[in-house]
Amino acid sequence: MTPLPPLGLYLHLPWCVQKCPYCDFNSHALRGPLPETDYLTALLRDAAWEAPTATGRSVRTIFIGGGTPSLFSPAAIGQLLEGLSQHLTVAGDAEITLEANPGTVEQKRFEGFRAAGVNRLSIGVQSFDAGQLHRLGRIHGPGEARAAARAARAAGFERFNLDLMFALPDQDLAGAVADVDAAIALEPEHISHYQLTLEPGTAFHARPPALPDEDLAADMEAACAERLAAAGFVRYEVSAWSRPGGACRHNLNYWRFGDYLALGAGGHGKLSTSDGRIQRTRKVALPRHYQTVAGTPAAVAEAWEVPADERVLEYLMNALRLVDGAPRAEALARTGLPWSAFAPGVAEARARGWMVSDPERLAATAEGLRFLNDLLGLFLEPATEAAS
Ligand SMILES: C[S@@+](CC[C@H](N)C(=O)[O-])C[C@H]1O[C@@H](n2cnc3c(N)ncnc32)[C@H](O)[C@@H]1O
Ligand code: SF4
Repeated sequence: MTPLPPLGLYLHLPWCVQKCPYCDFNSHALRGPLPETDYLTALLRDAAWEAPTATGRSVRTIFIGGGTPSLFSPAAIGQLLEGLSQHLTVAGDAEITLEANPGTVEQKRFEGFRAAGVNRLSIGVQSFDAGQLHRLGRIHGPGEARAAARAARAAGFERFNLDLMFALPDQDLAGAVADVDAAIALEPEHISHYQLTLEPGTAFHARPPALPDEDLAADMEAACAERLAAAGFVRYEVSAWSRPGGACRHNLNYWRFGDYLALGAGGHGKLSTSDGRIQRTRKVALPRHYQTVAGTPAAVAEAWEVPADERVLEYLMNALRLVDGAPRAEALARTGLPWSAFAPGVAEARARGWMVSDPERLAATAEGLRFLNDLLGLFLEPATEAAS
């Protein structure tokens, strides 16, 4: 019997006011009124259907993501959390995060989310530069971004994250640093700092804007990292910075290869079984379709088992994003694999200076983090490596 890892719960609320040109998430511009009640009912049918897979386990973290979950009313979020607790055991001290977009919130709404049981907010700021926000297709300006952060604090959220992106169209080094400084001034507990990527299927991918080259992007990242560190933030994952102790517990569980249920259109779930299997599932992506089939097996678009020979790579793609990596014992417990499955790749990575030499820990060095894809390439199947 393998001990089961901690369990999280992800809920996907897929609507936005409009679609941003860089975004490849399962998000849809709202046409007409938000189908709040119908979607809520569908999520709770899905929760009832999933509940038997979590028998005897308690949910440690909940993440309500999107899309733009803050379009939902506090009353709906309250009913959702209340309804979930009828199907699942939610730990008393669960971290419950909701994603909120500036321009869709005001203090009363935040107070309502807090009263409904949400105890952490993730606010999608992206930039504090009005011109950049416009090019990124955002519905908010810098004033609304600042107002959202202040409203979060005033509504009693001690824990909130600000999402920022850098290497934006025509951005210079000073622009990237100014965004980080503006975020720090709002005193969040957490800052996610993502390099803008051009994702297939997006408007930016079809008509790419002029982006900073890789050297400038690397300089931006280094300069921003210096500011964040000087302000007391600790980098714990490639893109995640927090005050000491303020890491996002829900995301940490992903990176440590924990388990998670997923409710909502397009949600991805992962569950380990006590006989050592790892199951992944993906729910149907189209919101209307999901609403009609939620709570039945037809809501699962795809379900598959992670084969033993893919677990090392899947595990390390997550764990090596963490600055501290993971204890070796946890790697073996979470994958159900013997050390011999990791050993050759780890030996090679250590020889190249990409992984730390501590025998009890699997962690990338600073160099390894910079070349993470090359490092992960060392763990590809020998057959694949030979073919490439
Ligand atoms: C799930 S998304 C959406 C959150 C929220 N709807 C918003 O946009 O504010 C979470 C974060 O991913 C980041 N993100 C989305 N698309 C990205 C891209 N193409 N490149 C880099 N970061 C991206 C943004 O910072 C965004 O806030
Ligand atoms: S608001 Fe967020 S989820 Fe919606 S389209 Fe923009 S980036 Fe994507």
